Amino acid sequence: MACAKSSDKTPLRGFYGRRAGKKLTDSRIDALETLLPELGIDEAQLEGTLKLADLFPAPPAHTILEIGFGTGEHLLGLMERAPDAGFIGIEPFINGMATFLRDLKPTPMRNVRVFMDDAMMVVDALEDECLDKIYILNPDPWHKARHHKRRIIREDTLYQYARVLKPGGQLISSTDVPDLAEWIVEKTTAHERFDWADGAQERWKTKPDWWIDNKYATKGAKGASEMHYMVFDKTL
Ligand SMILES: C[S@@+](CC[C@H](N)C(=O)[O-])C[C@H]1O[C@@H](n2cnc3c(N)ncnc32)[C@H](O)[C@@H]1O
Repeated sequence: MACAKSSDKTPLRGFYGRRAGKKLTDSRIDALETLLPELGIDEAQLEGTLKLADLFPAPPAHTILEIGFGTGEHLLGLMERAPDAGFIGIEPFINGMATFLRDLKPTPMRNVRVFMDDAMMVVDALEDECLDKIYILNPDPWHKARHHKRRIIREDTLYQYARVLKPGGQLISSTDVPDLAEWIVEKTTAHERFDWADGAQERWKTKPDWWIDNKYATKGAKGASEMHYMVFDKTL
């Protein structure tokens, strides 16, 4: 899985991926111009505690965060499936954000707030225990050991994911990079507030029947083989 080239990196706080790619089409520019002001989370909102009540007119009973949504087909799929839920989608890559907003534009769904920067800026600001699920699908592998601290699932970020998840909430991830899959499992199951969801360990190489594929799910990255599906419960 390779969406952002590490050689293209533009450090931006905690984000080390690619921020912009090929020239945006008119429809994507139009979607950015019209929907980002309406749906974007303002950086000023991150200065204090960010409450769901600040993001949604009526705080949703069920709220889902997707970190690094790429071009957003998985997020759109979740939204179609749960029209009453609230969604937060974070993607720093402008072409990805523009594609998601372009695809969202013709639909009436507006139960989503988006942020185009490092996910941890939002996660760190969010109030405690407000999310039901966090999806982090095919995160950048950052193969070199000296870059492991850039991985989006690591000890310090897991503390924050646990803090913002409700009791019984879930962290859901996937990768086709075996080393990264092992890293995610090792870090998450070693964490005092997470454990495999029931049966998820036995089935981690079998796609759950509720899984929504995204555009890149079948494309391989360097060192990639089969997809691993990881579902963890917040236990404490
Ligand atoms: C390999 S792509 C996967 C995209 C999508 N989840 C998928 O499965 O097709 C990783 C994505 O994570 C995003 N990303 C990397 N670092 C991030 C961060 N700190 N916060 C939010 N997104 C990040 C990248 O811009 C990129 O779109």
